[in-house]
Amino acid sequence: MSDIDVYARRRARLAREMGSGVAIVPTAPERVRNRDAHYPYRFDSYFYYLTGFREPGAVLVVVAGDAAKSILFCRDKDVEREVWDGFRYGPEAARTGFGFDEAHSVAQLDAQMPELLGDQAAVFCHLGADHAWDARVIGWVNEVRSRVRSGVAAPREIKDVHALLDEMRLIKGAEEITIMRRAATISAGAHRRAMQATRPGRIEYEIEAELLHEFHRHGAQAPAYTPIVASGANACVLHYVQNDGVLKDGELLLIDAGCEFDGYASDLTRTFPVNGKFRGPQKDVYELVLAAQAAAIAAVKAGNAWEAPHQAAVKVLTQGFIDLGLLAGSVGEAIETEAYKKFYMHRTGHWLGLDVHDAGEYKREGRWRLLEPGMVLTVEPGCYIRAGDGVPERFADIGARIEDDALVTATGCDILTRDAPKQVAEIEDLMQSRHG
Ligand code: GLY
Ligand code: MN
Ligand code: MN
Repeated sequence: MSDIDVYARRRARLAREMGSGVAIVPTAPERVRNRDAHYPYRFDSYFYYLTGFREPGAVLVVVAGDAAKSILFCRDKDVEREVWDGFRYGPEAARTGFGFDEAHSVAQLDAQMPELLGDQAAVFCHLGADHAWDARVIGWVNEVRSRVRSGVAAPREIKDVHALLDEMRLIKGAEEITIMRRAATISAGAHRRAMQATRPGRIEYEIEAELLHEFHRHGAQAPAYTPIVASGANACVLHYVQNDGVLKDGELLLIDAGCEFDGYASDLTRTFPVNGKFRGPQKDVYELVLAAQAAAIAAVKAGNAWEAPHQAAVKVLTQGFIDLGLLAGSVGEAIETEAYKKFYMHRTGHWLGLDVHDAGEYKREGRWRLLEPGMVLTVEPGCYIRAGDGVPERFADIGARIEDDALVTATGCDILTRDAPKQVAEIEDLMQSRHG
């Protein structure tokens, strides 16, 4: 199946699931970073899922029902602007290149939307993310309402198009899995490179640079999120992104970094010793997290509840916290009272896909949903022991997390990030082979 067919089939499925009505899905706006400098452009994930179209200034309209069709509104060709900003498709080339039924200039959107919404029962859009966009959509509906005396019926329902798309995005198709495998493999290579580049005296941002180099040299367009390169106590700050600390002999380095490849995220964490050798309490903590991750991964299989990997990880971690003397009492009590949250305060994973924290419900009608083949999730237990938390000195400021990306299969799961070493001996061997 060509790429065009993949996107056309997704639009056709959306139209089927809508039954009737019109869906409006805009891509993301360009965003100013400061003065006249922009952030690197990133399309909207829902829009991209349905179009494969990467230019800004575009809106997809899907009409459902007997006269089903998909229409792209996009920027016009503009030879003068293209001298400055590069190629843009323009409606005609976009229509043929991406398989839309119609394509028009985005400048015609306000004129055409009221026509398209006339005599349609429902508008499927996503309100609440952008007030100006919401007002525009309501403006089109009001325009149709103002024409009712001419016999045109205005839409009576506004529905959330994301509700339908979230469910579609949750189960990945073969073509998506191929891309996600590629993203995960590039990220795993970047973590190996980071391990080999690490030594006492280097600075966290130097290691970040190694990761970014490896992402881009393999064609990944961007990091999927800001990399966390956190040594020593910094690893206990869950969203640490300062990345300017000096790597010290005897400390651990936690790296949470994954690339985005062709729109799809990978999300990968490894923790390893700055000097290449796991020792003492750090090794105990690391091996506990590793055991918790193994238990969680064993619980990732079709038919298990979303919560099963988290429960498995919490059980192993809590027992470990008690064994290490960090918590008192029984495992049952420490879980019941949530005492374990002092050292493990986040959940064990999330859906992964076009967004790092991807679309898709975790609960349905009050119950954790069951895992199905084609879902992709992260498995990322950790342990964060801050000094001043009343812990024995030898454990102070140790933070460790291990995160992999798992594709649910009929019998278990396939770890997409498996090329990044995580066993103690594997990491130590790789770091032994450092040069310089
Ligand atoms: N890197 C973001 C996360 O692990 O959820
Ligand atoms: Mn994650
Ligand atoms: Mn992560």
